[in-house]
Amino acid sequence: MSEVEAMIPIFSAVAANRGLDVSAAVARVLDSHWYILGTEVAQFESEFACYVGVRHCVSVANGTDALELGLKALGVGAGDSVVCVANAGFYGSTAARSVGAVPVYVDVDEGTLTMCSAALAAALAARPAAVITTHLYGQLSDIDRIAGLCRAAGVPLIEDCAQAHGARRAGKMAGSSADIGCFSFYPTKNLGAIGDGGAIVTGNDELASRLRTLRQYGWSSKYQVSCQGGRNSRLDEIQAAVLRHKLPALDRQNLERRHIARRYNEAFQQLPLLCPVSTGEDFVAHLYVVRTPRRDALRSHLRAHGVATDVHYPIPDTRQPAYSAFNVPQTLPVTDAASDTVVSLPCFPGMTDTEVARVIAAVRSFFPTSGR
Ligand SMILES: Cc1ncc(COP(=O)(O)O)c(C=O)c1O
Repeated sequence: MSEVEAMIPIFSAVAANRGLDVSAAVARVLDSHWYILGTEVAQFESEFACYVGVRHCVSVANGTDALELGLKALGVGAGDSVVCVANAGFYGSTAARSVGAVPVYVDVDEGTLTMCSAALAAALAARPAAVITTHLYGQLSDIDRIAGLCRAAGVPLIEDCAQAHGARRAGKMAGSSADIGCFSFYPTKNLGAIGDGGAIVTGNDELASRLRTLRQYGWSSKYQVSCQGGRNSRLDEIQAAVLRHKLPALDRQNLERRHIARRYNEAFQQLPLLCPVSTGEDFVAHLYVVRTPRRDALRSHLRAHGVATDVHYPIPDTRQPAYSAFNVPQTLPVTDAASDTVVSLPCFPGMTDTEVARVIAAVRSFFPTSGR
């Protein structure tokens, strides 16, 4: 790295928000003096539901609340078990634990690192209360098969779409195949707010109505608590206005992300790296993650060459210390191997061609004898 070259970050809000000035959207809310559950939230919910292709969107305060309220709406509670993966940052586990349920982990597919449908089929025999499948890194899981298995077993399914806004297969969008789809609008997400935000989508009228009640103290009408387990978890008007402004750019920004992923995949073809298996519409490149047993050395090399990296995620849910007394010791070969080998490279909208080329050159120079 020359002295004038800045470090390439793993994500840049400056680059991603370039050309998407949200000040008018924010000003509109300030001028209205209406901050909670107003027209911006109602409009965003209707626009996002339409984008995903489902009847209802219920916005909430963040993606973890979306998962927790989703489980509650499905009737999952104390002592129930929830099947999920253990390589997706503990968010599904947090939600399961917060309703008093016990996560039951299944391994992931070697190629996509998303839920292995064969492992799910075996886990369904124990009749869990729900399943959460995570579309990790922006890669849709094997959602048709997973939804089919859950339907046949009579077990409700949640899609965790926090990293997969806009991913689709055969025209069917992330969040539209299960009973419930959950989204986060954390600022680095493919659709990011300027603070926390989240949403739940569903095609089921009854679930939507229960979710609207649960997100606001369990109220069916003001001060009338008709549903147990309610909370305050609302998206605010400013975040909704910002998200409305950014939603029309989502597909274009996903294309940009995917284009970067394609360039990387092509450039790394001959290198001893495992790269994302898809750069089609079922992958929105929320994160570009490669796998190498020399992960730590590669990270040091890239840092020295001005390229930031991160690890998503270094600790499987099965090994998180806070739950070591509760978790049954479990070996998940693909999950465990991934946590030791995954490394995320910079991939975000607004990343320049020169930055992409610099990342490629830096990665290639770590493997000097391969692929030249
Ligand atoms: C896969 C996944 N699920 C859930 C969440 C939780 O979202 P939030 O941070 O908005 O609570 C995240 C956010 O990082 C995520 O990546």
